Amino acid sequence: MSRVVAVAGGTPGMGMTTTVLHIAEALRISGQSTLVIDLDPQGDAAQVLGIPRSRSGILESLLKGDEAPERAGLLVRSVQPGLDLIPGDVTMDEENLERPRGRALKAVIQDLAPTYPWILLDCPPTMGWLTRTACAAADLILFPFSPSRAPSEFPDLGPLKELAESADLWVLPTRSLVDQDFASLRRKGVAEGVTVRGTLIPEDPSVSTARSRGQTVFSNAIEGRAARAYAQLVKEITRHDRQKTR
Ligand SMILES: Nc1ncnc2c1ncn2[C@@H]1O[C@H](COP(=O)(O)OP(=O)(O)OP(=O)(O)O)[C@@H](O)[C@H]1O
Ligand SMILES: [Mg+2]
Repeated sequence: MSRVVAVAGGTPGMGMTTTVLHIAEALRISGQSTLVIDLDPQGDAAQVLGIPRSRSGILESLLKGDEAPERAGLLVRSVQPGLDLIPGDVTMDEENLERPRGRALKAVIQDLAPTYPWILLDCPPTMGWLTRTACAAADLILFPFSPSRAPSEFPDLGPLKELAESADLWVLPTRSLVDQDFASLRRKGVAEGVTVRGTLIPEDPSVSTARSRGQTVFSNAIEGRAARAYAQLVKEITRHDRQKTR
């Protein structure tokens, strides 16, 4: 059975896609096959990985439950051994998806599960139907949030907490320059009863450099702060998973 991690939160530019791609790569390097499902019509994950975004409309039909879940196999693209991708579909129209058929993604995941120990869901930067259905299908929801970029705002965790009824919810401090950011986020997390992870993903130019080459920091800056932080995050995720499934 796959473990499903949704990276979500509705706040743009906080590093959702970057987080998905780095977790996938760390798992791949450690020999664990991963499927990334790009639920964002922007299709950024596909673009970074050099895979054409889709225009077939099949993903939307699958999410609406209008196609048999097995058809999802047709959408899977191999990026490299151990990393597959269902690319984002630019034709996907969230308005059409405002229907109570959230179970369809779960059926798709169940169908693909035997092949992948891990399935990662990259969400659009909105709290619409796509994010909600991703969270409903997830075992763990990661919410990257940058205190440096929105210092006065603590994210509204209410909707995510509701969605996370059967999933764990972790706030992941990202793109921060200073550790004080982390301390304040952590205090607020304690006040709101939400787990703020101990790992802070730093703002690091090697992340953007890697992205522009279709890579992760595990290729261009393996000794750097961001690579160490993402490796640590993946350790935390796998440790948490082992504890839950024990
Ligand atoms: N830790 C980091 N250090 C430096 N740059 C980063 C870091 N994380 C992400 N970025 C850069 O920030 C930009 C936005 O990142 P990303 O696409 O992962 O965010 P997102 O939350 O998925 O955004 P969107 O709202 O468009 O879905 C990218 O150019 C990426 O390279
Ligand atoms: Mg994104």
